[in-house]
Amino acid sequence: MKPLGIGLIGTGYMGKCHALAWNAVAPTFGDVARPRLVHLGETNETLARAKAAELGFARGSGDWRAVVADPEVDVVSVATPNQFHAEMAIAALEAGKHVWCEKPMATSEADAAAMLEAARASGKVAVLGYNYIQNPAIRHLKRLLEEGAIGAVNHVRVEMDEDFMADGAAPFGWKSDAGSGYGALDDFAVHPLSLLAVLVGPPARVVTDMAKPFATRPLADGGSRDVETHDIANVLFRLASGASGSLLVNRSAWGRKGRIALQIFGSEGALVYDQERMNELQLYQAKGSAAEQGFRTILTGTAHPPYERFIPAPGHGLGFNDLKVIEARELIRRIGGEPAHLIEFETGFRIERTVHAMARAFETGGWTDIDD
Ligand SMILES: NC(=O)c1ccc[n+]([C@@H]2O[C@H](COP(=O)([O-])OP(=O)(O)OC[C@H]3O[C@@H](n4cnc5c(N)ncnc54)[C@H](O)[C@@H]3O)[C@@H](O)[C@H]2O)c1
Repeated sequence: MKPLGIGLIGTGYMGKCHALAWNAVAPTFGDVARPRLVHLGETNETLARAKAAELGFARGSGDWRAVVADPEVDVVSVATPNQFHAEMAIAALEAGKHVWCEKPMATSEADAAAMLEAARASGKVAVLGYNYIQNPAIRHLKRLLEEGAIGAVNHVRVEMDEDFMADGAAPFGWKSDAGSGYGALDDFAVHPLSLLAVLVGPPARVVTDMAKPFATRPLADGGSRDVETHDIANVLFRLASGASGSLLVNRSAWGRKGRIALQIFGSEGALVYDQERMNELQLYQAKGSAAEQGFRTILTGTAHPPYERFIPAPGHGLGFNDLKVIEARELIRRIGGEPAHLIEFETGFRIERTVHAMARAFETGGWTDIDD
């Protein structure tokens, strides 16, 4: 396959992560053509040119539409705030580009549906940035579930907590504006939902409570503004299998830096994972001598693909940015027509519908079904 031409919109936290992945994917894997970093877009020309030079792109523009229109661009990474995803992804698909869009897909179900429709109409590959499913530890956890290592799954608990909004004195930012969505639901819950999607299937029913730990936040230039989003969401769910579960998310949780704590209980054991210790898994199997039963810690290593593409030594550990490198490789394979482990817009739309059902459940106070 000829080298892909890359466009990138947004160069903040995630934009840099995409740029690093596009830079690293060929040397890390050795089995894909090195992408050509063609064109990035930012909010103004000066920033765009500076970021292009810094991140290795040939050119930068202060108007994202120039990236989408560039004939040398084959794939567009969309790494802007949530409220821009739909417009940018749809424009890229309509211009005949493949799309790698950050999560959440969009801020409304209608926008997400329009994105799915644009992807279907374009025939291009359209995927979402659900990087946590790429972790070799999570891939191994999936293999263990498929092999029946813990029997039939009967209960799933997942929590995602960080503390970047725990300081009530932190200024009002785009994540507190209702334009960005509901808050912790579409900022955080979508990540655990991506894990459920690949490991045990999506929730079929949900009931939700949400909370705002701070009613207002200070404005950078004085005064304050009402917080419009909920930083905390607590959801109970049922899987189609009947297994019960809970999904608790909080972006105001002091001390939690990058926690995605997943516990899966089955008829014959349990599996436990925490993103803050992303290079290990805990496996409990209810067999053998009761006197010696206990959780086993499995450190990821060369036996857990594609760890070996990064480091030949087991137990040395991958990092968050490496997950995006793996995701980039999956995307290149998918564009080349090979099977790939990704969340495309079809599955992503189910995640979005689940988030909106969670929000509706909060409004009604009752259990809400998510029909397939
Ligand atoms: N996959 C993950 O693990 C993960 C982690 C963090 C954030 N995200 C997602 O990534 C997206 C971006 O979040 P972030 O934390 O990188 O935000 P950020 O604020 O750090 O960066 C956003 C960037 O987009 C640029 N931008 C804004 N409007 C633009 C426009 N109209 N044209 C061009 N550029 C524009 C900003 O200047 C900034 O550089 C969000 O949707 C977020 O949910 C995903």
